[in-house]
Amino acid sequence: KRVLSVASEAVPLIKTGGLADVVGALPAAMAGQGWHMRLLVPGYPAVMARIGRRDMVWAEENFFGGLGEVYLGTVDGIEVMALDAPHLFDRAGGPYSDVHGDYWDNPERFAALSWAAAVIARDGVEGWKPELLIAHDWQAALAPAYLRYWRVDLPTVLTIHNIAFQGRVGTAKMDALRLPHEWFHPDGYEFWGDISMLKAGMMAANAITTVSPRYAEELMRGEFGLGLDGVIRARANAVHGILNGIDQSVWDPAADPAVVPFSASRLAAKGRNRDALLAEFGLDPTLPGPLAVLVSRLTPQKGIDLLPQVIDEFVRLGGGLCVLGSGDGWAEQEMRALAERHPGRVGVRIGYDEGLSHRMFAGGDAVLVPSRFEPCGLTQLYGQRYGCVPVVSAVGGLFDTVIGAIPATEAANAATGVVFHPVDALALRQALRKLVSLYQDSKGWSAMVRRGMKADWGWGRSAAAYAALFDSLVQR
Ligand code: ADP
Ligand code: GLC
Repeated sequence: KRVLSVASEAVPLIKTGGLADVVGALPAAMAGQGWHMRLLVPGYPAVMARIGRRDMVWAEENFFGGLGEVYLGTVDGIEVMALDAPHLFDRAGGPYSDVHGDYWDNPERFAALSWAAAVIARDGVEGWKPELLIAHDWQAALAPAYLRYWRVDLPTVLTIHNIAFQGRVGTAKMDALRLPHEWFHPDGYEFWGDISMLKAGMMAANAITTVSPRYAEELMRGEFGLGLDGVIRARANAVHGILNGIDQSVWDPAADPAVVPFSASRLAAKGRNRDALLAEFGLDPTLPGPLAVLVSRLTPQKGIDLLPQVIDEFVRLGGGLCVLGSGDGWAEQEMRALAERHPGRVGVRIGYDEGLSHRMFAGGDAVLVPSRFEPCGLTQLYGQRYGCVPVVSAVGGLFDTVIGAIPATEAANAATGVVFHPVDALALRQALRKLVSLYQDSKGWSAMVRRGMKADWGWGRSAAAYAALFDSLVQR
């Protein structure tokens, strides 16, 4: 059975966040379920450099203002189609923005991606025709919508990784996005008088999935649905929360070339990673308390603005902190200021560094994820696997994947981290106090670390859930 997966990023080609990890891991995971998944991604420079321009499978001359061609290639055993449209994707900046901000034509760029996906799904390319299409986030959401508007009978799934990004634009772009005027109504792509590309996909797809069961429930409420909660409620029967997995062969502390190998049964070697991390960030080598790490986009979603309000006490209690991230200017500034305020205790790296992120999970005692909302979240899972105890807010996938230390879970030897609620400085401060006291009980601490390391966050269960959904849709 064949499925076309459409997204704006995928590991190992291009990544800005967890979306890329998930889109890149799904093909191998689904292969184990009897589903052959091909990817379609934009032909950014980094993508074309990997895929090459040898095997052209599709072309359209007057394609959103220039020539569009699709090239097929194989990356790490995965079949990838790259949409080569230099007028849209051959740019020096990132996939969505450059130093001047978001590209003005992002709606057109990703409508083009969705259009190519829809045509390929409808007609097939060179003997390969999918039985199902899965579109990720607003950048791919028009693919199911076009298929609906063309009355093509092909099952579609829309996966919401983050409802905060909706692809909302004024109606002046209707023709530029090739949206038929007769679908400009609340059942189509109309949203408060504008065009919503995400809503168009949500109304069109046969099923809507999101990346954790908790987030699926949260999306029904205004607080998390961000204007689209009514749409989610209207389609509640078609909504499924399927937890993301992690690639346990890439994230394996016993075989990771970036770290001193360790495992649940050889935990002592984790200490050498801790020493190395303290040295790498120039922190006090005799740090008495837990060493916390944070690896994150630095945006309001991630709750990092809470840190300056809680770190002074954490440091006083003996804790240390290493931050790796990039994002909003104000947040980068705040992080740098934290490091200046606490020399030897807080270290900050602004930037994106995959290798360093591995060393941080390996060397850290705890990973902080104080998100205001978190559809799934991956660093709390990488952290658990690397013996880094998660301290998380009780939202979305964080809620689903961390068992907070409270008397009942501690008595049952079941806790895997610290969970706090509501998402404010007071609750986070208490969570860090709890972390310090857990750390002081060294026997209980290593038992908790081992529990997290042994948990199975691989793709097995989730891939089976996707396969069950796909099968039910194609059999319908
Ligand atoms: P989101 O997708 O909302 O950013 P996730 O937790 O799902 O959040 O995924 C974030 C991914 O990006 C993880 O793989 C994380 O390790 C990685 N990451 C985030 N910031 C950085 C950074 N500065 N350097 C390296 N990896 C990072
Ligand atoms: C989004 C979410 C994150 C999730 C990721 C992968 O970026 O913010 O919580 O883990 O997508 O699904």
